Amino acid sequence: MNETIQVLINEVEIQERLLSLSEEIKKDYAERPFIMLCALTGGVIFLADLSRHMGDRATIDFVRVSSYGDKTETSGTISLDCHPKLDIKGKEVLIIEDIIDTGHTLFFLKKYLQEKGAAVVRTCALLDKPSRREVDIAADYVGFTIPDKFVVGYGLDYAQRYRTLPYVGVLSFK
Ligand code: IMP
Ligand code: MG
Repeated sequence: MNETIQVLINEVEIQERLLSLSEEIKKDYAERPFIMLCALTGGVIFLADLSRHMGDRATIDFVRVSSYGDKTETSGTISLDCHPKLDIKGKEVLIIEDIIDTGHTLFFLKKYLQEKGAAVVRTCALLDKPSRREVDIAADYVGFTIPDKFVVGYGLDYAQRYRTLPYVGVLSFK
């Protein structure tokens, strides 16, 4: 099967949106410190670019959440394979996600962080596919709302491939 990728959001559009998103976030947090908690692996490119607009008020940490196998459909099971290193008790945490699809991952992560005693948990997702939602959950900050298409690039993968593309594209099989 031949895989083709059609550009949906180009590099310039992503970087411009990141700038406006970072202004919004900085305004909301004012001078308060917060932890940018990146959901690996998909969120890592987004975190790297977004965090460089944050000045010195943000710290960075990671979690690894697994919900997908090498398929384009969710496996339904979510596990936390890598826990945050920082103590998040009493802290303001901003989850950095690549995409919100069914919403199960975000629901799981928010609950986990609340149980760990985080003071406030917010979410920033580069992409949102609201038409796919199975859990009633929304991100506080969204880069782009997209239709129900399987996308790759800018951190997002298909079977671990295409994460390094600087744009977001729709993957199709010919
Ligand atoms: P959710 O739990 O269904 O919201 O899925 C969230 C996770 O599924 C994301 O963090 C991605 O890793 C993955 N995912 C969902 N949709 C896509 C897509 O279109 N392309 C690549 N990965 C996706
Ligand atoms: Mg992800």
